Amino acid sequence: MKDLSRIRRAGLEQKVMTADEAALLFSHQMVVGASGFTKAGDSKEVLKALARRAKNETLQVTLITGASLGHDTDARLAEANALYKRMPFQVDRVLREKINKGNILFTDQHLSETAELIHGYLPYIDLAVIEAAYIEEDGSIVPTTSVGNSVSFAATAKKVIIEINTAVPCEIYGLHDIFLQENYPHRNFIPIISAEVRVGRKSIALDPEKIAAIVFTHQTDSPADIAPPDAKTTAIAAHLINFFENEVKTGRLTDRLLPLQAGIGKVANAVLAGLEKGNFYDLSMYSEVLQDSTFDLIDSGKLRFASASSITVSESCYKRIFDNLDTYREKIVLRPQNISNAPGLIRRLGIIAINTAIEFDIYGNVNSTHIAGTHIMNGIGGSGDFARNAYLSIFVTQAASKEDKISHLLPMVSHVDHNEHDVDVLVTDFGLADLRGLAPRERALLIINNCAHPDYKQELLSYFERACELRQGQTPHILEEAFSWHTRLRETGTMKRI
Ligand code: COA
Repeated sequence: MKDLSRIRRAGLEQKVMTADEAALLFSHQMVVGASGFTKAGDSKEVLKALARRAKNETLQVTLITGASLGHDTDARLAEANALYKRMPFQVDRVLREKINKGNILFTDQHLSETAELIHGYLPYIDLAVIEAAYIEEDGSIVPTTSVGNSVSFAATAKKVIIEINTAVPCEIYGLHDIFLQENYPHRNFIPIISAEVRVGRKSIALDPEKIAAIVFTHQTDSPADIAPPDAKTTAIAAHLINFFENEVKTGRLTDRLLPLQAGIGKVANAVLAGLEKGNFYDLSMYSEVLQDSTFDLIDSGKLRFASASSITVSESCYKRIFDNLDTYREKIVLRPQNISNAPGLIRRLGIIAINTAIEFDIYGNVNSTHIAGTHIMNGIGGSGDFARNAYLSIFVTQAASKEDKISHLLPMVSHVDHNEHDVDVLVTDFGLADLRGLAPRERALLIINNCAHPDYKQELLSYFERACELRQGQTPHILEEAFSWHTRLRETGTMKRI
C-alpha cells in the first residue's frame, strides 16, 4: 500500500521502488545491516527479494541484524545460499541446520555488543535495510515495533533502504527513546536511573542523501507463538514466585521487587503471569523484549512501566497495542539494544534477570546455546548481558525432557555461556537453589537436592561424592566421566543407565 504522505522529506518520493528493484542494490560479499529484533520490526519485503535474486546467481552477504527475524526470512535466505555469515542471533530451523553443517558461518554475540563492533571493529555496513513507520521532514526515520541495532546501521551504513510499513500506525511516534553513545574515548554515561527515564530522540537520525530506495509494505510482524502454561512451566513459576515472596519477607526485596528482565518464551510468560497474583505492585521491567504477559500486567495495574528493544506478541495483543497507543505510550519505551542491554545500566538498576538454560551443572555453570556441546540452538542473545550484571541472575529449565531421557542437570555442562560466577539462582520444575554466597561443594549439594529430576538424583550425588573422594579440589570433577551422560545419550538414546 503506497502512502506517500509517509515520506515527509521533499524529493524522496523519487526513491520509491519495488522490493525486487531495491534488491538489485545488493552485491556479492556485501555487509548488510537489517532491522528486526525477536521477529519485530524486520524487513518484510527486501530481504525476501534478496533471497529470490540469490537463487539465480552467486550472491552471498554477511547479514547483521538486531536479533531474530520473522516471516521465515532467515530460512529463505539460507535456502537460497544468500548468507555467507550471520550475526548476532537467530532462531530459524533451516538456518540453524546450515550453520551446524558448517555451510553458513554464525557469530553468536552478546546483543549489547554488536553496536560496539559496528562502530569500530566490524567492516563498514555497505547497505542497511530498516523498517520505518514514516520518514520525517529532515530525513529521520520513525521505527516500528523494534529498535535493535537500527540506530547504529543508520549512522554507519554507506546506503540505506527504508521499508515503510503502512500496517504500523504513524501514532507509534513517541514510543521510542533513541540514544546514540559517543565513540571512545569520549563516551559519557547513559543517564538512565529508572526504566521510565527517556534520554534521547523520538526518531533515528539519518542523512537523507544515504537513502538509496524506499519500499512500501503492509504486513504485520510474525506473531509470537505462545505455548499455554503446562505442568512444568507452572511449577517453575510457582517456585520463583515463592522465592520472591520469601525475599520480601526477609526484607531483601519489597513488593515492588526490582526491574524485571524476562527472556522470551513460555516460562517467562508463566512467571510474569504469576506476578499478577499476590501482593506485588508498582512493578517495572527493564528488558529486551516485551511479550503478551507484559501488556496483561500493565492492564491489570500491576506493572507501572516497561522498557525494552522490541515488542513480540500474539496477533490479538498486537492489535490491542495499536488500538491503544495513547495509553501504552505512557507505559512503555523501546530503546536501541545496546541501551536496553547495557551492562552498566543493568548493574545500576539492580535488575532481576530470568533466562532459560538448555542445561546446567552441579556447580551452577549454564549452557544456553549448544546441544551436546556442538550444535547451536539460537544463540546467547541478551542472556549474558543480563546474567553477569543483574542484581539477581536466575536461570530456569525443565529438570528432564524427552520422556525424561535427557537430564538438564549434568555433572558438567557441555558448553559454558554463563559461568558459576554469574548465576545466583537455578530453578527447575522440581525446585529452586539459591546459590548466593555458596562455595562450589555447597552449591553442588543444594542444586542436586533441590533441582534434579528424581530419576537422576542418586547418580548425580554419587558422581559428586566420588569426585570429592577421588580427585578432591575446590571444584571436584572426574573429568573422564564428566561428559559420559552425553556419550550415553548419543549411544543409547537416553542418559539413564540401562
Ligand atoms: N540433547 C538433545 N536435545 C537436548 C539436549 C541434549 N543434550 N538438551 C536439551 N535438549 C532439547 C530439549 O529436549 C528441548 O527439545 P524440544 O524443543 O524438542 O522439547 C530443547 O533442547 C530445549 O527446549 P526447551 O527446554 O523447551 O527450552 P526453550 O524452548 O524454552 O528454549 C533456550 C531454551 C535456552 C534454547 C532459549 O531460551 C534460548 O535460546 N536462550 C538463549 C537466548 C536468551 O536467553 N535470550 C534472553 C532474552 S530473550
